[in-house]
Parts: sequence; C-alpha cells; structure tokens
Amino acid sequence: MPQLDPRAAKATSVQAQDEGVSAEPQALKITAASSNPKMFTLPWSKPLATWPEELLANLPRGISRHVVRFVHVGDEVYAMKEITRPVAEREYELLRRLKKLDLPTVTPIAVVTGRHDDNGEPLEAILVTKHLKFSLPYRALFARNLRPDTAGRLIDALAVLMVRLHLTGFYWGDVSLSNVLFLRDADAFSAFLVDAETGDLHMNLTEGQREYDIDLARTNIIGELMDLSSGQLLPGEVDEIEIGNRLVERYHSLWSTLTDVDSFKPDEMWKIEKRVNKLNELGFYVDELEMKTSDDGNRLMVRPRVVDAGYASHKLLRLTGLDVQENQARRLLNDLDAYRASTWRQDEDLEIVATDWMREQFEPTVRMIPREYRTQIEPAQFFHEILDHRWFLAEKAGHDVPMGEAVASYIENVLPQYKIDRKAMDAIIADADAGVVDDEYTYGDDVISDDPDAAVWSH
Ligand SMILES: Nc1ncnc2c1ncn2[C@@H]1O[C@H](COP(=O)(O)OP(=O)(O)O)[C@@H](O)[C@H]1O
Ligand SMILES: [Mg+2]
Repeated sequence: MPQLDPRAAKATSVQAQDEGVSAEPQALKITAASSNPKMFTLPWSKPLATWPEELLANLPRGISRHVVRFVHVGDEVYAMKEITRPVAEREYELLRRLKKLDLPTVTPIAVVTGRHDDNGEPLEAILVTKHLKFSLPYRALFARNLRPDTAGRLIDALAVLMVRLHLTGFYWGDVSLSNVLFLRDADAFSAFLVDAETGDLHMNLTEGQREYDIDLARTNIIGELMDLSSGQLLPGEVDEIEIGNRLVERYHSLWSTLTDVDSFKPDEMWKIEKRVNKLNELGFYVDELEMKTSDDGNRLMVRPRVVDAGYASHKLLRLTGLDVQENQARRLLNDLDAYRASTWRQDEDLEIVATDWMREQFEPTVRMIPREYRTQIEPAQFFHEILDHRWFLAEKAGHDVPMGEAVASYIENVLPQYKIDRKAMDAIIADADAGVVDDEYTYGDDVISDDPDAAVWSH
C-alpha cells in the first residue's frame, strides 16, 4: 500500500487555469482538468527516483535530462517528470494549448506542486502526462532490425509533425529524437511531441525561426544516431548524415506544397487534386481534406500522413470492397476525400460517404466503359485514368469539368489507344492455348448499360 503524503489532509485539487504563474503552494496541490482521487494515494513526499517498484510500469523510455517514471494510477499509466514548478506549469499549459489545437502531442494530465518530504523540505514539482500507448522511443526503434525504408518513414513522420507544429505557430526549440515518440498504427507511422519544455506558441513563425528549428533537429538527429552507432546499436547500413539531411529535405518539400495554393473558388477542385497528387509524389499519403470558408474564398486544409506500402489498398477494400492496386487505390481514395470535402460531409462517417461515392461517382463512371473495351481495361484503372483526364481538361479550361464531360472526352480521345488492332489480336489468340478465361461480364449485364443517360452524377 503506497504511503500517503502527510499533507494530503490539506491537499487541494483545482481546475486548471488558462494563464498565470501561481504562488508556491504550502500544501500539496494537484492542478488538473479533471480530478482523479487515485492521484492522492501516490507517495508525493518521496523524490520520484525513489518511488517503489510496484507502482512503476516497466516500459521503454527515451533519454531525458530529468527524472521520468511511468506510474500505474488506477487503470492508467501516467508519465511523471520531476521539474521545477515554473517549468512544470509552463509545459503543462503549453501542452494543453497544443492539444486544443488538435496537434499530436502527449496529453497533459496534471501538475503537482507544493510537495514536501517527510522533514518538510520542499520537493520539485511533477508534470503528469498520459503515457502514449504503444509508442516507442527512437532507441527502441532504431536498435531493432530496422529496414532502411522504415527509418526513412520515421523521419518523414517527424517532418510531418514539424510542419504541422510550425503551421500552427509552435516553435519547438529542442527538436531531437529523444523528444519525439513514434507510433506505428497498422500501416501508418506518426510522430508525437513529448517534450514541450523549450517550446513557444506564436501567432506565426518567421522563416528564420523555422529554419533554426529544422537545423537544430538535423544536428541533434545526426548526433543521436552517431551515438547509437558507436554503441553498435544501429544497423550498419544506416547513414546518419543522410537521415539528418532527409529530414530537412522532406520538411521543405512538405512545407512548400502545403503552403502553396491556399485559396480557391468552388469550381476549382482540380487545384486540390494537383496539390494532393504532388504530396503523393513526395511519398506522403493524404488522409484528411478539410474545407473552410474564409473571406478570400475557400481554404483547404490538407493533413498528410506517412504510411506503409499497402495502406491505401487495405483502406479502400475495407470501405468499398474494391480490391485494386496500391496506386489506383490511392487515387480512388483521393477522389473519395475530395468528394467528401466538396459535399461538406467531413463530420459523417467515412463508411457512409464511401457508399454514396460508390453509387454516385464510381459506378456510373465505370458503367460507361464501352462494351468493346471491357476486357481490356480494368474498372479501377479506367476510373483512375478518367480522373487524370478530368484534371487535364480542368487545368486547360481553368475551372472544374463535370465527370460526364470528362468521361465522354476520354472515351473519344484516349481510350482508342487501348484498342488492340485486329492483326495483333489474331496473333495473340493464335499463340494462346485453349482455356481462355472470358471475363467480359465482370460487372454482369444487369448493372452494365451502354446507355450514357443511365449514368447519374451528383455534380
Ligand atoms: N506521456 C508519455 N508517454 C510515453 N513516453 C513518455 C511520456 N512522457 C515522457 N516519456 C518518455 O520519457 C522520455 C523523457 O521525457 P521528456 O519530457 O523528454 O523529459 P526531459 O525534459 O527530461 O528531456 C521521453 O523521451 C519519452 O520516452
Ligand atoms: Mg526531453
């Protein structure tokens, strides 16, 4: 049974304030957004480094300047960091603000101040955050048998995190692998900010501030990796400098793509496509598109993600039952996202929007594949190429082009290239043995119609 703080009788629990540094409390004070009675049972009168083993959760932890411990509190595991009161209070507030801005950071739980040991001598404050489940510090990640492309993806995830933080005006001041946690969630990778001690929120960051942050990140990463390497903890083929440089390069390309075109008119969805395609080419997957209306037109928020191979096809299969190649899946999902954003349905379940997208966008389009091409072009490939073609037409016209128009133009101008001429066909047939699979009726006659009027597009 953990020993109770002798001053727990006088202890208080208060709602977190938004501003201001309070005076040194005389009795134990737990500042938190919501109260958890279990917090009062912890041995606050002992230095954190001496807390009993049975309270601690043995989970991987990164290198830190301060004493950090993972502690079981009821069903939860909290990360506790012993630091001076002003620093604890400041970091707590900052983490709260970042969380409110929906940024990927650890979740602040409380600041514990007014600690005293059994002789009444003051102890430092403790910042309590929620342990980020399944997260791994880089030492645990890089020291494993890390595939080179995984190392690259981790760095990409860090570039996404830095761009997102900078876009909201957060200057980190101490970017390093030790201050980031990595999370692998199915085929996706994300990076979370864990140490905000040196950070600051501004209205906007200057280019100089951003460059400084990135430069420091590069130096720290190279140093941290070299340190691992000298301890034989890094696979031989990992090049520390190359990884550091990759962060800088990925950060810059992501930043310029995301901040490039920032507003567009309602009939300029093609501009969004352009940007999303560019992010795809950079190797980022776009997971969320959000439209916001502002004085100077609609604004688009794009949230890039770092994912593993196969992410898009798994997701598309789950949402629509379509089982297609990765690049096609990515394209189709982009169109689904654009459809969702343009119909202002961000708050609806993606599963429901996907069903409508299938019925209103995908199916009417692939039904238009002329009969003679149905054995030669796969529906997903057809749709993918229509999207390309529609984009090409829109850019030329300077405004969006309706789906029906794009399909008609594609069938007339591009599809004939798919036609295998009679002679070549005869040769192929002559080559082939018996047992030809006739997959002409992939979609069945009941759904396929040659009548263009049978197709309906929502817009
Ligand atoms: N909420 C948390 N979830 C998971 N790990 C955490 C959490 N908070 C801290 N850690 C681990 O503890 C390490 C040190 O924390 P950090 O805040 O960076 O301390 P310091 O300010 O002393 O550098 C981190 O690298 C991380 O591995
Ligand atoms: Mg740290």
